[in-house]
Amino acid sequence: MAKIDTLERLMVEELRDVLDAEKQVLRSLPKMAKAAAGGELRTLFEEHRQQTTGQLERLKRVFGLIGEAPRGKKCKGMQALIEEGQEMMAEVEAGPVRDAVLIASAQKVEHYEMTAYGTLRAWAARLGHEEAAGLLEQTLEQEKVTDGRLTGVAESLVNPEAASQVAEEEQPRRRVRRASRAGGVGARARKAAGRKMPGRKTASRKKKMSSGSRAASRRGNR
Ligand SMILES: [Fe+2]
Repeated sequence: MAKIDTLERLMVEELRDVLDAEKQVLRSLPKMAKAAAGGELRTLFEEHRQQTTGQLERLKRVFGLIGEAPRGKKCKGMQALIEEGQEMMAEVEAGPVRDAVLIASAQKVEHYEMTAYGTLRAWAARLGHEEAAGLLEQTLEQEKVTDGRLTGVAESLVNPEAASQVAEEEQPRRRVRRASRAGGVGARARKAAGRKMPGRKTASRKKKMSSGSRAASRRGNR
């Protein structure tokens, strides 16, 4: 490949990069919408998919304005961001915690795009491509709005729900802690109570239980 020796050439290369990045985003958004448990988040992803279609059209107009063919060039940065997001997503069950992953991943993508468009707008303006700079500015603003909406959904809905989700193996212990807090019994008092009330009754009942029914009762406690 010929060396890039002008800002104009550099801008074209970056435009090709962001064109491919947008195509990758367009492909990944339906998967993200499908994976979202919350209706608000799903709607946001669906709306951003529509918006991304418009952004691709706008980018093609930019290519036209500077007299270049709208050819993409594999954007490795976006590829890595999307792959990483999908790997994380696969490790989390559907629900508010997965929605938190989806938002985190989507905001990394948004910030990457905001950086790209901010740079491109500045270069286009510097090189006298005013109309192209205006179009790039429009997309930059859309990405900022989307980023803000993601923050809004995270802070008002997803994060509070995700934070209240308790790990399954933690649940019985949490219940004991909450019960003791409610009754005002401290750890030392609980220990003393345990000594005064030996588990004889419990132990004898346990002895009578078959291992099968013990397992069933354990399951029932969950
Ligand atoms: Fe975009």
